[in-house]
Amino acid sequence: MKQEQQYLWWQSGTIYQIYPRSFQDSNGDGIGDLQGIISRLDYLEWLGVTAVWISPIYPSPMADFGYDISDYCDIHPLFGTLDDFDQLIQEVHKRDMKLILDLVPNHTSDQHPWFLESRSSKNNPKRDWYIWHDAKEDGSEPTNWLSVFGGSGWEWDEKTQQYYYHAFLKEQPDLNWRNPEVQQAMFDVMRFWLDKGVDGFRVDVMWHMIKDEKLRDNPSNPDYKPHQATYEQLIPAYSTDQPEIHDIVSKMRKVTDAYKARVLIGEIYLPVHRLIIYYGTNNKGAHLPFNFSLITLDWDAHKLSSHISEYEGALPEGGWPNWVIGNHDQPRITSRVGQAQAKVAGMLLLTLRGTPTLYYGDEIGMRDVPIPPDKVQDPQGLNMPDKDLSRDPARTPMQWDSSNNAGFTTGEPWLPLPYNFQRINVEAQREDTYSMLSFYRRILQLRKQEPALHIGDYEPVVTNGSLLAFIRKTESKKYLVVLNLSHKPCIFRLNTQEYKGTIVLATSPEREGKTIEANISLYGDEGILIELD
Ligand code: GLC
Repeated sequence: MKQEQQYLWWQSGTIYQIYPRSFQDSNGDGIGDLQGIISRLDYLEWLGVTAVWISPIYPSPMADFGYDISDYCDIHPLFGTLDDFDQLIQEVHKRDMKLILDLVPNHTSDQHPWFLESRSSKNNPKRDWYIWHDAKEDGSEPTNWLSVFGGSGWEWDEKTQQYYYHAFLKEQPDLNWRNPEVQQAMFDVMRFWLDKGVDGFRVDVMWHMIKDEKLRDNPSNPDYKPHQATYEQLIPAYSTDQPEIHDIVSKMRKVTDAYKARVLIGEIYLPVHRLIIYYGTNNKGAHLPFNFSLITLDWDAHKLSSHISEYEGALPEGGWPNWVIGNHDQPRITSRVGQAQAKVAGMLLLTLRGTPTLYYGDEIGMRDVPIPPDKVQDPQGLNMPDKDLSRDPARTPMQWDSSNNAGFTTGEPWLPLPYNFQRINVEAQREDTYSMLSFYRRILQLRKQEPALHIGDYEPVVTNGSLLAFIRKTESKKYLVVLNLSHKPCIFRLNTQEYKGTIVLATSPEREGKTIEANISLYGDEGILIELD
């Protein structure tokens, strides 16, 4: 029998992502900061999450809002100081929670001293820390590789007469991970923060870190649709997900494992059969290669249940599953599946087997906020203005209360608040039993209390139409989860006596406490969690 003590916090717990610019401002400059986060830790404790992952807080020219780092071992003055950071870590740990940092090893800012040196001359010792190449004979770029943010992935450097590669902005040159000095430098960065007591890293674009040594061109994508980012015109077969990445990840894991109970998470957008390779040989890769399928798949019961089975079946022995429902790069869940389905989505995230990661504000049902064209800040939106790709709408300030600027700042918020924040905010929802926030809190508490929910086995249940159902169980307890992914009522048919029990949690609290003995009629957009007899 599985013993609970065999499981670590990052397996049994829940991760909450904070986008620091938007969580809480403490000094009135309209941008969130570390003291702001500290002042809201009681809320996170009350909510019941285990770990907090914060997007980058390091010095940065902010070309990509902190994902362009100019110093890996300091804090951007906008966010505070290293002292504030030490205080944050202490305060998090005091509440028995964990702190996960964002590590961005694929690229630096073009203002990082490493790159300034590297671009200063061809013989500079740091030249080979980045990916420099001669032009082709006709002067064109070394490969056809595209930048995720639009345009070519290569930038010509007039002074030294070579191109450098950047998977993202030209202000974010890619590091050359084939160079052992680069590897050591980044492992030192990891140790710097691990020594400070951070509980792990979310590694940015892990699958981008190594590129084809022979610099082969990427093939074109026959399924490209004009509304997509121009990057999608090619299949990044040679610029991402190269076999050599797994050796690098295992080295990062080794650095992490030299410390007790730390976690290594990888940001990886790949199909299941490629994704699971990032667990590494003998599970010596990433602990949690992020599984984004709840974001990338259509909100369809059949597609989701086949994915869950495929993923469960593909996981390597000992590989721990995980699920993500939103992040700072994707439209918010409430906007994607609609207000009515948002609780069902939360229930799915928090009842599946595996570590859930939730995105700040989703617990109160924050929606994507439309940003007027002259206020767009995200480079992805600015570079491809005709394609509606800005990530700003999902990055707006946290809605705390109904006061000015939703209690986020006393100044001018860096992104606007929605018109309805006076209704959709933490304060308004806290005491309301029927609110999204109360729902999230109750399910987080139940998940925490019940081993069947946080570490139990997963067993699919065959259903019809728009229903998604499964069982979570330990030897002593069994839960049946039934979710209606459509707006229409439907019936979940119980064809065996096995499914007798009591509803312990539901998207509509009125349903709780009811016993279930026959077929269950579900309302549209309803989810129920039944403790089986
Ligand atoms: C990751 C981050 C994203 C960033 C990009 C480049 O995808 O999540 O926000 O723009 O990497 O660092």
